[in-house]
Amino acid sequence: MLRLEQMTRGFSPGQNDQIEADLFADSLFDSVIYVTFQELATRVSHRNTGKACNEPIADQLLQRVSADENLHMIFYRDVSEAGFEIAPDQAMKSLHKVLRNFKMPGYTIPDFRRRAVSIASGGVYDPRIHLEDIVMPVLKKWRIFEREDFNGESARLRDDLGLLVEELQEAVDKFEIAKQRREERLRQMAEKKAAKNQLVGSSAS
Ligand SMILES: [Fe+2]
Repeated sequence: MLRLEQMTRGFSPGQNDQIEADLFADSLFDSVIYVTFQELATRVSHRNTGKACNEPIADQLLQRVSADENLHMIFYRDVSEAGFEIAPDQAMKSLHKVLRNFKMPGYTIPDFRRRAVSIASGGVYDPRIHLEDIVMPVLKKWRIFEREDFNGESARLRDDLGLLVEELQEAVDKFEIAKQRREERLRQMAEKKAAKNQLVGSSAS
């Protein structure tokens, strides 16, 4: 069933009721642009999961999977790039919709928010990775902020993407501060625990 849906609609930001129905892919642009980011995100997160595993076989396996994901990403990225040449305004509309609403497949998994915290603290996927390793490289490749062939509405949408990049940067800064605080708290807790254990140990002897 899921497979059938994928074949008829292609992956889209709204697939499997992930977000409101009106965000289903309306065009091929919606699909190929979304999967460009999604495949890249998959590539990067598999690679980082491999590193986080600290286990050579798992790392090698995930490297292999990640290399495959990269090929998927390149295909969609280049198809989309050709689309920007043919119909820049239409492509821009899709790009804006995709990035303003981007969610990774799987975010409907129960408890995804809590899991996302451990995914982030494990260095697998976090706001910085999203901005620096996923969003920006693709925008650069498509020369979104250099192109001069966006007109009217799509020129406005491009400007709004500039704003989105700033917002993502603010989210990165906030996240990094929260992360540092969390690490500091965990360090203090570990220290307290160690001190307590020492106390218990010395009173028992
Ligand atoms: Fe893939």
